[in-house]
Amino acid sequence: MTINIILLGPPGAGKGTQARKLVEERGLVQLSTGDMLRAARSSGTEMGKRVAEVMDRGELVTDEIVIGLIREKLSEGGNGFIFDGFPRTLAQADALGQLLDETGMVLDAVIEMQVDDEALVRRITGRYTCGNCGEVYHDETKPTAKHGVCDVCGSTDLRRRADDNEDSLKTRLLEYYKKTSPLIGYYYAKGKLAPVDGLAEMDEVARQIGRVLPVSSEIATGT
Ligand code: AP5
Repeated sequence: MTINIILLGPPGAGKGTQARKLVEERGLVQLSTGDMLRAARSSGTEMGKRVAEVMDRGELVTDEIVIGLIREKLSEGGNGFIFDGFPRTLAQADALGQLLDETGMVLDAVIEMQVDDEALVRRITGRYTCGNCGEVYHDETKPTAKHGVCDVCGSTDLRRRADDNEDSLKTRLLEYYKKTSPLIGYYYAKGKLAPVDGLAEMDEVARQIGRVLPVSSEIATGT
């Protein structure tokens, strides 16, 4: 069964963590606009430099750029997509709707990952990521088994993100509440919204998402 879902939630809600689990367990393709933009910034192009400044401040990159990135990825095809960190504005949500219509795809569910702001600060300031395979860790809730070595690929290239500091996080949260949280109502009105408890332990969040998916797929396909 092909499933297309959006993971919606503030910075640190656990979108990337759950997206990676879904890739592993269901063979879906993760489309993270954050990862795509980080790849663009490390390319050293003019566009990459402009993107880096915006990201480091914690602001949103223009709709035009991110919609272009998603359009390109969707045209490559795939057996079901997880939209991680996209859409983030109403204009992006409308554009995604159009892109899915054009390619004959259906949006099955929008998983709203509910968390509180205090937990987000702890999660973001404790996060680090493997620069080689992208596995996400946390100082307290998910440390590597061996200090300084990725559990998945054995790389010692473990990094903290430039925007994972309290100042940028404040701006990222404001951007979320001003520009992204209206999408909760937008997708509720479309009958796609499925809230999960993002504060639960990681495997429990995954179970809650798993319980949502088949039901939402049935709604979307009318079965
Ligand atoms: P992006 O990379 O998308 O960052 P974000 O939305 O701020 O989300 P994060 O990646 O910070 O958090 P997450 O929800 O994935 O949490 P994670 O699983 O890592 O965007 C970065 C920037 O790019 C934006 O600020 C913007 O500038 C730009 N951008 C991106 N997309 C854009 C768009 N569409 N439009 C415009 N601009 C865009 O988890 C966090 C930590 O918590 C980890 O350490 C993890 O181990 C831990 N954790 C996860 N789940 C749990 C749990 N259940 N219990 C305990 N710990 C947990």
